Amino acid sequence: MEILISEERIRERVAELGRQIERDYQGKPLTIVGILTGSVILLADLIRQVQLPLRVALLQASSYKGAVTDRGSLTINDAFAPEVEGRHVLLLDDIFDTGHTLAALVPKLRERGAIDVRTAVLLRKQGRQEVALEPDYVGFAIPDAFVIGYGLDYDDEYRHLPYIAVLDPNAHEAAH
Ligand code: IMP
Ligand code: MG
Repeated sequence: MEILISEERIRERVAELGRQIERDYQGKPLTIVGILTGSVILLADLIRQVQLPLRVALLQASSYKGAVTDRGSLTINDAFAPEVEGRHVLLLDDIFDTGHTLAALVPKLRERGAIDVRTAVLLRKQGRQEVALEPDYVGFAIPDAFVIGYGLDYDDEYRHLPYIAVLDPNAHEAAH
């Protein structure tokens, strides 16, 4: 697999994002909400770089299978139901690709009483955006390739890789 972003570059960038978040959320009741499952590695690393009082929550969203025509119809799994009433929410995902996931979740968190909802992603794929929403914090802009590692999966594998790599379909096939 071709490594696109090394473990060290990720560590440095996540620390920078932490500094930026500290400055922006000084004195505000902050809840960082990680979207399962892709954001868990970023969530764990990022929250340890933010020296502010904060709460952590998780959210699981699912779209109705086959509803390709209505990509915005994501439902939040209420088993996780993050408590966001009166909170400044920073919604975290692994990657901003078309943007439909974040664009659908931001209004849902507002409906649930969040004062403010901003978004943070480790990666942003270039040339793929289909929504008006712009992510507020971006770790790295990357070319339009399918990437894995640091939370990102292919068929639910590879999330544990400490770096970001471009998926090599041949290597994947050979290993299965
Ligand atoms: P969006 O709604 O199109 O922005 O897609 C976001 C979701 O698609 C992410 O949370 C990922 O789960 C998945 N995704 C998009 N691109 C990739 C990729 O290159 N590798 C792994 N997952 C991806
Ligand atoms: Mg995924």
